Amino acid sequence: MPLLFKFTGIVINKHILLAVCGGIAAYKSAELVRLLRKQGATVRVVMTHAAMQFVSPLTFQALSGHPVHSELLDAHEEQAMNHISLARWADVLIIAPATANTLAKCSHGLADDLLSTLYLAASCPVYVAPAMNQAMWHKPTTQENIQRLKSHGVTVIGPEQGDQACGETGFGRMSEPVDICRRLLAEPAAHCLSGLKVLVSAGPTREPLDPVRYISNRSSGKMGYALAEAALKAGAEVTLVSGPVALSAPFNVALIKVETAAQMYAAVISQAAQHDIYIGAAAVADYSPIKVEAEKIKKQGGQTSLTLQKTQDILADVAQLEQRPFTVGFAAETHDLERYAQDKLLRKNLDMIAANWVGRELGGFDSEQNALQVFWKNGRKNLAMTDKNHLAEQLIGLIAERREDEKNTA
Ligand code: PMT
Repeated sequence: MPLLFKFTGIVINKHILLAVCGGIAAYKSAELVRLLRKQGATVRVVMTHAAMQFVSPLTFQALSGHPVHSELLDAHEEQAMNHISLARWADVLIIAPATANTLAKCSHGLADDLLSTLYLAASCPVYVAPAMNQAMWHKPTTQENIQRLKSHGVTVIGPEQGDQACGETGFGRMSEPVDICRRLLAEPAAHCLSGLKVLVSAGPTREPLDPVRYISNRSSGKMGYALAEAALKAGAEVTLVSGPVALSAPFNVALIKVETAAQMYAAVISQAAQHDIYIGAAAVADYSPIKVEAEKIKKQGGQTSLTLQKTQDILADVAQLEQRPFTVGFAAETHDLERYAQDKLLRKNLDMIAANWVGRELGGFDSEQNALQVFWKNGRKNLAMTDKNHLAEQLIGLIAERREDEKNTA
C-alpha cells in the first residue's frame, strides 16, 4: 500500500516510476528521488544502460529503497517485477532526464529496451523532463517528437534556459528537481474542471490581400494549445478553435481549424453558448483588407496603401451572449500592460483577463516561456515566467477557482 501524503492541501496517493536516461543531468534525478520520498511517495527507478555510465544504480537503490530496474530480457528482474507489472504499478511515469534519443523512441513507439517498453505499456500519466544540448533541443526532429508526445497526452516539464555542461548557453537544461517534484505532486489539483466544457481559441489569423499574400502576426499557438491541453488534463471536454499553426492538437480535443478572423468569429460564436468557459488566447487580426483581389497585386510606383476595416470582436461578443460562458480574455501589450488589460476587462465585460508582455526577448509570441498578470473585478494574481505548459496549468487552476467563487457569490 503506498503512503498517503499531503501537498498543496490535497491528500494524494502515489507510486512514482522514475526512468533515468543517459545524460549529465542524471545526477539531478538522485535529488528528485529524495524530494519525492520526503513527500511520502513510493519511488521505483528504471535506468538505461547509458544512464548507468553517469550515475551508479546503487545511488538510486539507496535513495529509493528498492532495487533499480534496467533489463528487459533478464529472467531475475522479470521474476521480481516484470515490465508489465512495473507499468501497472505506476501512478505516474516520469522520464528525467529524457534524452533526444529516448524522446524519439517514445514518440515513434519503438520498444527496444526496458524504459521505452515501459513507456508503451504505461497507461498512467506520463511526464518527461528533457535535457540535452541546446542545438539538439532546437532541431526540428526533436521539436516534432516533442509535439507528437504532447499530442499523445505526455506532459513536458522544461527544459530551462541557461549554461550547459557542454559549455553552450540556451534551452536544454533539465528543470530543477524541486520544480519537477512540485509539478508531479500538484497534478491531482487538475480535476478542477471535471464535467465542464471549455472552448479555447489559439494561434494567429490570416487576412488575405490576394491569392498569395496575407496580413498576420507572430502567434505560434503554443499558449492556446497548452491551455487546451491543461483544460483536458483538468477533466474538461475541450473544443479548440485554431488559426494556422504548426502544432498538433492534443488527442481528445475537438479541433476546428480556421484561417481568417471572420472564420474564427463564426466558429467561436456558434460554439460559445454550449460551453462553460471560453478562453480567447488567439491573436485575432483587429483589421482586415476591405477588398481581397482575385489576382496577385502587381508591383506599382514607390508607395502603395491598403484600406482595412475593423474585424468583429469575438471576445466582446461572446461576453454579450445571453447564455454566456465564463469569459477569459488575453491582452498582449508592448507598454502600459496593466492599464490596457484593466481597460479591456471592463470594456469587453470579461470575467478575467490574462495580460502578457509581447515584443520582448522572453515570453509572449512564439516563445517557449511566458509570464502573466491576471486581473478580475476585485483581484489580481501574477504568474511568474515559466514554460507555457506549466503556466497554462496554473491559469486553468485559477480560472476554475474564480469561476467557483463567482458562482458562489452570484
Ligand atoms: O501563440 P503564442 O506564440 O504562444 O503567443 C501567445 C500570445 C501572445 C498570442 C497570447 O498569450 C496572447 O496574448 N493572445 C492574445 C493576443 C491578442 O490579440 O491580444 P489583444 O490585446 O490584441 O486582444 C485582446 C483580446 O481580444 C484577446 O483575447 C483576443 O483574442 C481578443 N480579440 C481581439 C480582436 C478580435 N477581433 N477579436 C478578439 O476576440
